[in-house]
Amino acid sequence: MFEIVKRDGLARLGKFETKHGVLETPALLPVVNPKINTVTSRELYDEFGFRAMITNSYIIKNTPDLKEKAQALGLHEMLDFPGIIMTDSGTFQSHMYGEVEVTNDEMVEFQKSIGTDIGTVLDIFTEPYWTKEQTAESIEVTLERTQYACDIKGDMMINGVGQGSIYKDLRESCARRMADMDIDVHPIGGVVPLMEQYRYSDLVDVVISSKKGLNPNRPVHLFGAGHPMILALATLMGCDLFDSASYAKFARDDRLMFIDGTFRLSEMQSLDCDCPACRGHTVQTLRKLPPKERTKVIAKHNLYQITHELALVKRYLSEGRLWELAEMRCRAHPALLDALRRLEEYQDFLEKTEPISRTGAMFYTGAETRGRPVFKRYIDRVNSRYVPPTDKAVLFVDEGSKPYSRAYAADFDRARKAGYTPIVLSPFGPVPADLDEMYPLAQSLFPYIMDIDTEIESSSTTREFLDRKFKTTIKYSEIPDDGDQEYDADMLRAMAVSRYQFGEEATQALFRGNVELIKSRKTGKIRNVISDGEHVLSMRAPDGMYSLRVEGAKRITESVPAPHMRVVLMDDAVPFVSKGRNAFCQFITSCDEELVPMDEAILVDKDDNVIATGRLNVIANEIASLKKGIAVKVRSGSGDDEA
Ligand code: GUN
Ligand code: ZN
Repeated sequence: MFEIVKRDGLARLGKFETKHGVLETPALLPVVNPKINTVTSRELYDEFGFRAMITNSYIIKNTPDLKEKAQALGLHEMLDFPGIIMTDSGTFQSHMYGEVEVTNDEMVEFQKSIGTDIGTVLDIFTEPYWTKEQTAESIEVTLERTQYACDIKGDMMINGVGQGSIYKDLRESCARRMADMDIDVHPIGGVVPLMEQYRYSDLVDVVISSKKGLNPNRPVHLFGAGHPMILALATLMGCDLFDSASYAKFARDDRLMFIDGTFRLSEMQSLDCDCPACRGHTVQTLRKLPPKERTKVIAKHNLYQITHELALVKRYLSEGRLWELAEMRCRAHPALLDALRRLEEYQDFLEKTEPISRTGAMFYTGAETRGRPVFKRYIDRVNSRYVPPTDKAVLFVDEGSKPYSRAYAADFDRARKAGYTPIVLSPFGPVPADLDEMYPLAQSLFPYIMDIDTEIESSSTTREFLDRKFKTTIKYSEIPDDGDQEYDADMLRAMAVSRYQFGEEATQALFRGNVELIKSRKTGKIRNVISDGEHVLSMRAPDGMYSLRVEGAKRITESVPAPHMRVVLMDDAVPFVSKGRNAFCQFITSCDEELVPMDEAILVDKDDNVIATGRLNVIANEIASLKKGIAVKVRSGSGDDEA
């Protein structure tokens, strides 16, 4: 069973339950070659804290003494590894050396017989140079073998390896069919040659196409990915498991892995590493070590680089900042930068997984930052949902001080009195004064000196926005001095944020009748929206967005047809959720697919009665396949005393 504990876009922190313990993901499984044992499995467990490893059942099966020992003692005792053991099936050997003389059922049965926790189908490795026909045919064989493996797997978990070479449609359809089978882990296979050839942008196509079809309820393993420099990007794309044989292979060639590449000991000018393996060493002392000893030190160094980076990936992920780490890491190699730029082509897909807001500020790292889905989200919404209060705009330029309404308070006031709506040209594109305190506008940091791509992009989106929404636009130096129009900046903001979050119809319902805004005495910011005496909305200070109250939710369900903002509960869950308990995935019958993670959601029963409100904790179209975890974090229920 796989439980997603936290997510950031496609990336997730998870818990994967197996017979030999719960694995926290993302996780990397070091490959142990039972014939070589560069670093022993016990060391991997004790010294490095690896709780899962991977070894090759094909090698074991073809080495008589290992085979005998594995079948007599079981894999865990043979390898002296108390954690989770995954085995591969010989597919990679066929990729390296041609045909293997074993069958799928033989390999699956053998893996069962040695007590593997997670065994692997004997899939067919689809090479990047294969024709589409050849690829499609071999996928059929892999799928047949996978179905067979599912039928006979018993209590062993099974890796159902997705294939498809570099054909995006085949990757997606293969993934979709794998999603329907009773497999436990979704490895993405056939990608090692892409990584060896630095074809990282093809890797992005393969991973994202696969992710579109895979079952979100299962961990995704990027087969053969173990270099620290790829971990942030791969995790960002929704991969949960990785494996590395290269830590040992490279070590045998005197090559050291670092976050910015792999370097030969013979060419290194200095070591600059304070990992526990290198401590006390210089390149000179390392070179002088006897070969076996040296290999071990370098292998351990490589493992420390991996564990260190993985810990960092987890930290950034849990802080909602994984995009930043991935963007920084992709500067290590131009091919990785290509990958990041390719990812921008999937903004539409990524946008559905992008939370409406995050805690903490977002940091710009370079021109590629504009490829993040948060930009697309903002532009789409401001274009489709913003309603200007006047048909004349005055354009300001972002000079770095935020929020704009404070930085330009006097000019904004003059503009509004003259009947103009202030719009700021920002790196996000156009920012109406009414929205400037909302995520991500105020909660973001950009350099004063902007890169030219971002400048061109934001100017052109701003131009389009102004043309679409206004009759005239002037520069801030042209604002007339003598305006006397009245305006209510707080009410404009209150309604603009509501439109952005909930849409026009819902906003009309929420702001019906006599509306009173309660503001913080300390900060002067809007706190509560009271409509005809009912407390319908509360504005959150950190992200400038609303929490929806049950009274507000009732207004919306009465006037906006389903499924807008609804998450429908099964009858069994209604009594609990109405008391304020969280709504779990397995108790949800349907969900508005327009909702995005962290959106305000209205929990209703099957007759559209409001039960509670809260924030969506998952990706809307994933709820149906998720068996565990919180779907909506409930804030207040209709049966709550304080509601
Ligand atoms: N190891 C690296 N790539 C692959 C793959 O495509 N299939 C299997 N079974 N193992 C792999
Ligand atoms: Zn080191």
